[in-house]
Amino acid sequence: MNGLTILGTGSYTPPFALTNKMLETIVDTDSEWIKLRTGILSRAIAAESETTLSMATAAAQKALDGLDRSKIGAVIAATITPDYLTPSLSCLLQRDLGLPTDIAAIDINCACSGFVMAMKTAHTLLADMPGRTALIIGAEMLSRVTDYTDRATCVLFGDGAGAAVIRRDAAGTFASDCGAVGNAELLSCRAQYLCNNPFMPRPRDAEPGAIAMNGQEVFRFAIETCSESVKRTLTRACAEVDSVNHFIFHQANRRIIDGIVRKLGITPEKCVINIENHGNTSSATCAVALDDLFRSGKVNAGNRIVMAAFGGGLTYASAYFTQSEEIKYND
Ligand code: UT7
Repeated sequence: MNGLTILGTGSYTPPFALTNKMLETIVDTDSEWIKLRTGILSRAIAAESETTLSMATAAAQKALDGLDRSKIGAVIAATITPDYLTPSLSCLLQRDLGLPTDIAAIDINCACSGFVMAMKTAHTLLADMPGRTALIIGAEMLSRVTDYTDRATCVLFGDGAGAAVIRRDAAGTFASDCGAVGNAELLSCRAQYLCNNPFMPRPRDAEPGAIAMNGQEVFRFAIETCSESVKRTLTRACAEVDSVNHFIFHQANRRIIDGIVRKLGITPEKCVINIENHGNTSSATCAVALDDLFRSGKVNAGNRIVMAAFGGGLTYASAYFTQSEEIKYND
């Protein structure tokens, strides 16, 4: 039962599109620069009424369509922008989706590597839950932690959510790799707390809770660690790069994906690219791309799929699985 297969996928992207041209009106940037240096043309931004939970719920509803919810044994939500510190996003999804209560409900803070880590974690958890499935989600409202006066970051990020229902699979193969290189200088977003205890005053956080980043260093880290991680995962799966049918890389920058593709000698057409209209949605990018891939009708039974991501932490993760069956979508 070492394999993993996907039973359903779903995604949700807010309807409001923040285009490069619109960004030109609020920050010193240039449409063409953004397009050439990142591959992004626009990004979806959540409306006032939307929450990370509402986006995650919308994506999860689609992933669960036609599936037996009583079989879900784990719900694992990857997010760095939850609505609450507690209850977790996964607990709120258990409630709103009417999932069983004898369930492992866990949030993962692994930034952009979160969805791949959610898959790896779910695969492990399902090992002692025979007959059960897991719902994994990547959901982010990065617009709530983006500084729209900082052109080095605000042109990159967007909002959205993606989800998948998975089960362990006797016939297939699953292999994975992950790592962390703790660093709060290159990519970070400070937490903000209420500090009003008069007996033990604490200084308020000096910096607002917005993403800060050294883009060039993260760029280098991304190409190097993602490529090496995929190589290790493929070795563990006893698979060659050429035997993989589909690659899903974290959609942070088109040039990063191109760099990984070159380093690994991947046929570019095998890569899912949707960064143009989504931007970087952190843990949601791989989840949304997975949904795009499955709904494109390009995944056949027996296909080999690789997902890989990198991000804040710094972290990286990759996973390989063989998809045992085609998914039929009703919508
Ligand atoms: O999910 C993981 C999180 N983050 C990432 O994956 C980000 C990884 N890094 C990147 O994607 C890229 O480093 C960026 C897109 C952030 C920046 O692209 P770059 O090619 O590394 O640009 P750069 O920082 O080397 O800057 C080149 C020039 C600079 O001007 P000068 O000094 O050459 O005159 C910047 O000031 O581009 C300028 N610049 C901009 N110009 C217009 C930086 N940001 C912008 C901007 N619009 N938004």
